[in-house]
Amino acid sequence: MGKLTILNHPLIDHKMAIIRNKNTDTKTFRHLVNEVGGLITYEITRGLKTKEIEVITPITKTTCKTLSKDVIIVPILRAGLGMVDGIQMLIPTAKVGHVGMYRDEKTLEPVEYYAKFPNEIVEGTCLVVDPMLATGGSASAAISAVKKRGAKDITYVGIVGCPEGVSRLNKDHPDVDIYLAAMDEKLNEVGYIVPGLGDCGDRLFGTK
Ligand code: PRP
Ligand code: URA
Repeated sequence: MGKLTILNHPLIDHKMAIIRNKNTDTKTFRHLVNEVGGLITYEITRGLKTKEIEVITPITKTTCKTLSKDVIIVPILRAGLGMVDGIQMLIPTAKVGHVGMYRDEKTLEPVEYYAKFPNEIVEGTCLVVDPMLATGGSASAAISAVKKRGAKDITYVGIVGCPEGVSRLNKDHPDVDIYLAAMDEKLNEVGYIVPGLGDCGDRLFGTK
């Protein structure tokens, strides 16, 4: 079973209080979702493999470490886009693949409408990102989409999750580790996370 990590960190908790507040404006919401995405990534990247290279400093020759594998960020459209800048602040060399999913409002089943990935997903470390892990349907389908293109080293990066979404991901993709800023109580009858933060895509892009 994949490892589940809930980031317990005062800075993240502080930012989450503002993100969750329904009165937070779009600009602040977008800024903080990006920041939290970056902070979670800092924790995830602790385990990345490095290789040694030779560097000549102004003083002498020395050996330094650099990342040995490509990192590919795969945001699930739309809301996953809200975390990409924050992650790329930390990993500017990361490539970005895109997968478009929306939830059918009646069945809550994900529908794929777009997919484009760099070739590096086959050998690289793939971060599938989406702020909301609700039923887990979108994340599960997005991970299946990257696996279909050959990805093997996959981590899911979210902001708010719930037990239903985590169980679904663990069942469908036991090889994938899950990182979340917060684990909420449950889903409500229309598939929203409680207490959650509402519709993340709408709040990021001002569509409601
Ligand atoms: C939201 C969210 C996730 C998905 C999570 O997207 O951004 O992708 O729901 O729900 P799930 O775990 O039950 O699949 P939505 O379908 O609202 O599309 P949007 O990002 O385009 O607004
Ligand atoms: N998608 C969202 O944007 N919010 C939720 O609470 C659940 C799914």
